[in-house]
Amino acid sequence: MNARIEIVQTDITTLKVDAIVNAANESLLGGGGVDGAIHRAAGPQLLAECRTLKGCKTGHAKITKGYQLPAQYVIHTVGPIWRGGGANEPILLQACYQRSLELAVDNAIQTIAFPAISCGVYGYPIDQACQIAFETTLTFLQENQSITKVIFACFGDLIYNTYLKIAEQSNK
Ligand code: AR6
Repeated sequence: MNARIEIVQTDITTLKVDAIVNAANESLLGGGGVDGAIHRAAGPQLLAECRTLKGCKTGHAKITKGYQLPAQYVIHTVGPIWRGGGANEPILLQACYQRSLELAVDNAIQTIAFPAISCGVYGYPIDQACQIAFETTLTFLQENQSITKVIFACFGDLIYNTYLKIAEQSNK
């Protein structure tokens, strides 16, 4: 596995990295899951900045400050809702990781943590989603040296074990 990738079981809002990624919805005005946790931990100024962004399309990403979070920035991306796999879901999920990493580079961010985008209420099959996340990140890191650490912040055993299995496979 790439030495710059870490797989950890943690609440992403506690991480002291340059940026954490939020699995948001197109309104960017908050929600449940990791989105709710990030807004609670960042405080109301985050929502105030999000209101100025006028939403975000699925597969795209936008950046804000992190306010009360230990992380300096939040990169908000909108994963696809799983509709059975025939609605461009893999391309859109890949774009979330790709665009978030590009935005990180544009903002001189060196350390970044991702939640498992679309793996909660958006219903993406976890094996497939983690594979896309891992491969997209690995390819990006091979071509870009400015990011020093990417953390996959896993909430729960299933996602954590899935990432560990994928990482192990990639070493073979
Ligand atoms: N730290 C890390 N991961 C977390 C945390 C946390 N604090 N909390 C939840 N997760 P979800 P989605 C995991 O549902 O599927 C929101 O309402 C969670 O276990 O947060 O992309 C938005 O506003 C799961 O593995 O995001 C959207 O409307 C993963 O984060 C919608 O949900 C993503 O689950 C987006 O759905």
